[in-house]
Amino acid sequence: MEDLSLHILDVAENSIDAGAGLIVIALSENDKEDSFSIRITDDGKGMDEEMIKKVLDPFFTTKTVRRFGLGIPLLEQSCRESGGGLSIESAEGKGTAITAEFRKGHIDRKPLGDMGATMMTLIGGHPEIDFELRYEKNGDTDFILSTRELRMELDGVPLNEPAVLKYIKENVNEALQEVY
Ligand SMILES: Nc1ncnc2c1ncn2[C@@H]1O[C@H](COP(=O)(O)OP(=O)(O)O)[C@@H](O)[C@H]1O
Ligand SMILES: [Mg+2]
Repeated sequence: MEDLSLHILDVAENSIDAGAGLIVIALSENDKEDSFSIRITDDGKGMDEEMIKKVLDPFFTTKTVRRFGLGIPLLEQSCRESGGGLSIESAEGKGTAITAEFRKGHIDRKPLGDMGATMMTLIGGHPEIDFELRYEKNGDTDFILSTRELRMELDGVPLNEPAVLKYIKENVNEALQEVY
């Protein structure tokens, strides 16, 4: 996978499959620490201890039609390649948080890529789910996109209306244009 935004799409799709009603994607950068992290939190069905161990194994998937079962192992590999790592916190019936950390300036750290397209795909495909995208730089929150708030502002116009999705994509990419 070329860009972190595609890894994010993949991991958020796991949350959708797990029946989440709220998915929070938090991006955080810190220049002093040379860190870049992605944390994806959901309130889906969660995983038990044994499952978490299996998920990190590249040859495991619960899908009967085996696609790959590589989403999380591939993200972990991307983390390791840039001097970082991946962790999973999960509780059955409560939800899951996946944290991916990178050395921000590492030569092999993948760029964020088209985060607007990722949000557009997620929201357009699942307008009934609440998504939140947060971006924090050096401890300050720079940007928040919340579909819950957007839905209220839209006053009945569906989130998956093409003009709304186009606005979401452009809004995200403009807010994150400095983020590499
Ligand atoms: N957020 C999550 N909530 C519950 N289960 C999850 C979550 N993320 C991953 N899983 C479990 O881990 C498995 C492996 O995920 P992944 O590596 O992305 O491969 P795939 O989605 O192709 O199966 C999933 O099939 C699912 O059973
Ligand atoms: Mg997956």
